Amino acid sequence: MNKKYKVKFFPFESTVSVSSGTSILDAAKKANLPLKATCGAKGTCGDCVIRVLSGTYQSKHSAALSEELIRQGYALACQTEVNDNLTIQLPQFQELSIKIVSGSEFFEEHKNNISGIYEINPVVKSISLRVPPPTLEDSYSDLKRLEREFRKKLSTEDLNCEYSVLRKLAHVVREEKGEITIVVFRSGQSWTIIDVKEAKAAKNIYGLACDIGTTTVVLYLVELTSGKILSTASSYNQQLKCGEDIISRINYAQKPDRLQELHNLIVMTVNNLIDKATRSAKISTADIYSASVSGNTTMIHLFLNLEPRYIREEPYVPTFNQVPIILSRDLGLKMNYEGRIYCGPAVGSYVGSDITAGLLCTPLVRDSKKISLFIDAGTNGELVVGNSDWLMTCACSAGPAFEGSGTKCGMPATEGAIEQLIIENNGELEYKVINGSKPKGLCGSGLVDLLAELFIHGYIDRHGKFNVEKAKDRLVEDETGIGFLIEKGNNSYWGKDLIITEKDISNLIRTKGAVFSACSLLLKNAGLTFDKIDAFYIAGGFGQHLNIENSIRIGLLPDLERNKFHYIGNSSLLGAYLILLSDKNREMVNEISKKMTYIELNTEPSYMNEYTGALFLPHTEMELFPSVKQILNS
Ligand code: FES
Repeated sequence: MNKKYKVKFFPFESTVSVSSGTSILDAAKKANLPLKATCGAKGTCGDCVIRVLSGTYQSKHSAALSEELIRQGYALACQTEVNDNLTIQLPQFQELSIKIVSGSEFFEEHKNNISGIYEINPVVKSISLRVPPPTLEDSYSDLKRLEREFRKKLSTEDLNCEYSVLRKLAHVVREEKGEITIVVFRSGQSWTIIDVKEAKAAKNIYGLACDIGTTTVVLYLVELTSGKILSTASSYNQQLKCGEDIISRINYAQKPDRLQELHNLIVMTVNNLIDKATRSAKISTADIYSASVSGNTTMIHLFLNLEPRYIREEPYVPTFNQVPIILSRDLGLKMNYEGRIYCGPAVGSYVGSDITAGLLCTPLVRDSKKISLFIDAGTNGELVVGNSDWLMTCACSAGPAFEGSGTKCGMPATEGAIEQLIIENNGELEYKVINGSKPKGLCGSGLVDLLAELFIHGYIDRHGKFNVEKAKDRLVEDETGIGFLIEKGNNSYWGKDLIITEKDISNLIRTKGAVFSACSLLLKNAGLTFDKIDAFYIAGGFGQHLNIENSIRIGLLPDLERNKFHYIGNSSLLGAYLILLSDKNREMVNEISKKMTYIELNTEPSYMNEYTGALFLPHTEMELFPSVKQILNS
């Protein structure tokens, strides 16, 4: 009988048991992991490259992998058999790195431009008290004496106490002569004591701001008394192995056991990030009492283990828009047992708390005179137009092309990604790679640049098809077909030619077309035209260097004055952070959500027309893009 071995795959932490002699590619398939195998396991395409972190292995020789990479532990999954317990890293899901944006610095830089406020007044606080010991004259219960001391500091009629606090209260108030620290949670005028500790115990309490994206999850660990961000952590959403986008996750969740699986995967993702962040800051997870979470409606449903199927069935109604406060123990999050979790309000099936929280980072709800447009172009594209008096919103399925999936050469904005690119007049490509290594692929901003440069220099036509005559020196062929050569294999990290195919270009055009047509339709519903927009805020996972000019040239963004555009990065996370720090921001975000009118594009008869018109570079109606027309005519 064949011996069995365990193969563990990072970053998904999936472990499968397979018989000796099974290829790593088959083990990955068994683990349901997204490993590409373009050549059908012939060992020629190099797409199934993996890195072996531990365990012994032997691979068949293949020219698709350089000696240098083999020395570093890389191997082709289709050419490597399992004959030991192995730990494998999937390189396309390499470590994500995020820039720490200090809360106070972020606020200082943007305070005149955002609706949210920077105020340290969280709903969870720690308070020091001295509870006198009981005497024959003062024989009130321990809780009564504690409440009496609390009311001397904060007058309230509505004070409650958790059962877990009562269980340790008698002991704690008798230690250290009654010097204690209590942790309280405030909801409106009502206070609840959620922890009691001896005074000598750590006084600092912590909170989490977390953005749950369809592709990535990012978290800040925050000291609640100062607002200081102590550490950050980010990773891929472990649900990726169950589907790349929202619709495939909803479909996956159709069976009850699979809903539980998706829920467990996102809780595991967040718990791993909490572990990472607390280890780095050297604090205990038991001192985390509060979390503010934002994400699209589907992600929050799955986070809360709620059936998401009705999100995509007409009339597209989610289970909730306003979520009640959730206890950390109900979700199994690595926080204090009594930790409180707040998920921001959603507006509809496809406009979630990532958008309502994100609006705190724009002036949209602060100014009644200017009309602004906000767009978050992630796997799902969400848009909002309006001002402090009214807001209208919609969503479109953009696909993950600008987040690094859906194209052969795409990757997230991490080390090795081309983030800026130009094509010189002599046809040479100049590019900038994140961290300066050899290029591994292109992130969203790099793809926008590439598409625009190919178009403006005439290498592709308005349909995204190659001009074979013009591009002939750069056209190469591999297993996926003909593509435009971005970099030769000997200059690329993986030793393979970096190319973009017509299929990739068509994917990018569909993505930008979905975003632009949703923009256009939203404005029509609001009775507006693009020239009435005073400011345009762009959030999302493009990377730090989204080129506005190029975004206009491909028809992703409208042809407006360039100074109207502002790229604001991960506004969902920063919004969650502002909510964590101040109850006023929480109230503001609830007000924002109530003001928003949701337009369901799925039921808009003219959407298809708008979308079809946007499937050209930059658009079928060139009059909408006068600056691009001028360049093409010059
Ligand atoms: S599938 Fe392994 S090299 Fe192509």
